[in-house]
Amino acid sequence: MGTLDWSNLGFGYRKTDYNVRCYFRNGKWGELETCSEETIPLHMAATCLHYGQECFEGLKAFRGKDGKIRVFRIEENAQRMQNTCRGILMEEFPTDKFKNAICKVIKLNERFVPPYESGASLYIRPLLIGTGAQVGVHPANEYLFIVFVTPVGPYFKGGFSTNPYVIIREYDRAAPLGTGCFKVGGNYAASLRANKKAHDLGYSCEFYLDAKEKKYIDEAGAANFFGIKNNTYITPLSTSILPSITNRSLMQLAEDMGMKVERRPILEEELATFEEAGACGTAAVISPIERIDDLENNKSYVIAKDGKPGPISEKLYNKLRAIQYGDELDTHGWVTIVE
Ligand code: PLP
Ligand code: COI
Repeated sequence: MGTLDWSNLGFGYRKTDYNVRCYFRNGKWGELETCSEETIPLHMAATCLHYGQECFEGLKAFRGKDGKIRVFRIEENAQRMQNTCRGILMEEFPTDKFKNAICKVIKLNERFVPPYESGASLYIRPLLIGTGAQVGVHPANEYLFIVFVTPVGPYFKGGFSTNPYVIIREYDRAAPLGTGCFKVGGNYAASLRANKKAHDLGYSCEFYLDAKEKKYIDEAGAANFFGIKNNTYITPLSTSILPSITNRSLMQLAEDMGMKVERRPILEEELATFEEAGACGTAAVISPIERIDDLENNKSYVIAKDGKPGPISEKLYNKLRAIQYGDELDTHGWVTIVE
């Protein structure tokens, strides 16, 4: 452990000491269990393996200057997981249990929470799967909730620096009335080819257009989109994107900063008009966008003309991080201190 290079962590899985599990059997959730196994004994006909009854969440904990550990917006992640469960007919995991499980897994792995100075954080990954056996296409009657943690650094190269992105028209991630608004594994399976193509072409990540008309910006594979112009924070309104908690927080912070906030469809062509833009999410935080290329249409929307993150993105980033690390007052009640 003493050998962990906190400031140079990437975003990946690293074994920690414990995970926390909870089983839904006989119509009810059991007690939280502490586990040191990394594997899961699973019925070969479990619905998660065949019919995609699987969902997950992602949130982070931060160690402050005062040594305290703060978790960002636990309740929001609990509610989004419940919404996802309603979306693919899985048993909802109650908010109180979710909060207890998160705090418990952090405490059990406290030695993995990166120090304040490193700028790294503890990534928390709750997941919920259908474990009951079915061969016909039906929801399971047994479920397993697990949460594990892993210390992480930035998701995109260079942390808070600009990166190039690409619109991939060849593959859709989610249909307008499909599961794009839920955090289910299937969406990520659907994104793998586009993501590989983007990486192979040297881009940081892929962007999706709305699947029906291919006219509007939806989101990136693992982050929402926002653009800034005329003192206005603009982010897509779409039924096929994940409601990002980071994005919702940034909308609030933008409003606090006296900016206007708009949630509405964004035509691809409007990209040419933004003064700044970014990809935002728990893993990405804010990843400022240098440019977005649309290769099939032979277009390149250069947003960061000097190659640097814009001043408003930087202000939003600093504000969000300050709240998360406890450097600034948490006026919106977003932070839970792990006692
Ligand atoms: N969009 C997708 C597809 C994601 O996977 C994520 C990550 O969770 C986000 C957006 C950002 O959401 P959040 O800010 O809640 O992490
Ligand atoms: C997150 O930001 O937490 C995500 O879920 C992104 C991810 C799929 C790595």
